[in-house]
Amino acid sequence: MKMLVFGGSGRTGQVVCRMAQSAGWQVCAPTHAECDLEDAAVVSRVVLHSGADAVVNCAAISGLEACADDPLCAHLVNAVAPAAMALACRHTGARFVHLSTDYVLDGRRPGLKDECTKCKPVSVYGESKREGELQVSEALSTALILRVSWVCGNPAKPSFVESILSKAWHGGPLAAIADKYSLPTHAEDIARVIMELIPTEAHGIYHVCATGEPVSWHACAQLALEYAAEYGALPAVPELKATRLKDAAFFREIRPPHTAMSNTKLHAAGVYMPGVQETLKKTVVQFLSR
Ligand SMILES: NC(=O)c1ccc[n+]([C@@H]2O[C@H](COP(=O)([O-])OP(=O)(O)OC[C@H]3O[C@@H](n4cnc5c(N)ncnc54)[C@H](OP(=O)(O)O)[C@@H]3O)[C@@H](O)[C@H]2O)c1
Repeated sequence: MKMLVFGGSGRTGQVVCRMAQSAGWQVCAPTHAECDLEDAAVVSRVVLHSGADAVVNCAAISGLEACADDPLCAHLVNAVAPAAMALACRHTGARFVHLSTDYVLDGRRPGLKDECTKCKPVSVYGESKREGELQVSEALSTALILRVSWVCGNPAKPSFVESILSKAWHGGPLAAIADKYSLPTHAEDIARVIMELIPTEAHGIYHVCATGEPVSWHACAQLALEYAAEYGALPAVPELKATRLKDAAFFREIRPPHTAMSNTKLHAAGVYMPGVQETLKKTVVQFLSR
């Protein structure tokens, strides 16, 4: 069985490629230079000629500021290219899996959001990803769209969890935002969910993230530091200052504050997602043994 992976060099894509290969898939992951997603015609050609049984799109312009700086590029990569993939899969009959984000939500109200929650993105990134979801669904009704959040667990592409551990390791002052809430998703869990759902009839949008109540960046970072100290990698739990979203001067784009997703629909489909603590413990262990 052959799998075509877009974004195979990314935080999630690397892990998806690795896990698919271990599961016996023949994986083809064109690089950015081999297939520029800003060119939908090239994207279509690559899918049509791939002979793939499954196409997985892990590619995106995922930086909020990068999207704001180049909205056209964000639109092409995050919306037009996935639509071209979906349309090409309709012709070839390949299974199509597309990754999206909790940032399609406006995140104004606290609490867990399910797949029926109205989408109202507040950034160029979120808008382009929502447009991608809509275009993919329209092009291919069987497409599977997995919304993920706070992807961690690939030490080669550090997330805020691995970054705080690095800083602690080097003894720098530590701070994390305490008034923005979501749920982390381990990259290996995303890859596993993809493998588990490809052979099923599941289609449409599924929320894929750790199971639990919403947590802040600060709470996640604090837990990660506590685990690192418990495993002997730090002499003690270092002090972690709590900061506020509005003080993050380096964020030029708005971050929605409450975007934690409920994964009840995924669980109902028979797919297990670990809790926040398990997710973070695994991330810390992998970071320490890298
Ligand atoms: N990271 C998170 O916390 C997070 C949270 C929520 C949702 N998501 C979603 O999860 C998915 C995976 O995110 P990620 O963080 O793993 O992504 P990432 O690490 O930023 O990787 C993005 C990938 O897309 C490729 N790419 C970007 N522009 C391209 C272009 N024009 N042509 C070809 N390839 C291009 C990159 O290749 P090059 O590096 O070679 O350009 C890279 O392989 C995305 O859909 C993202 O929106 C991520």
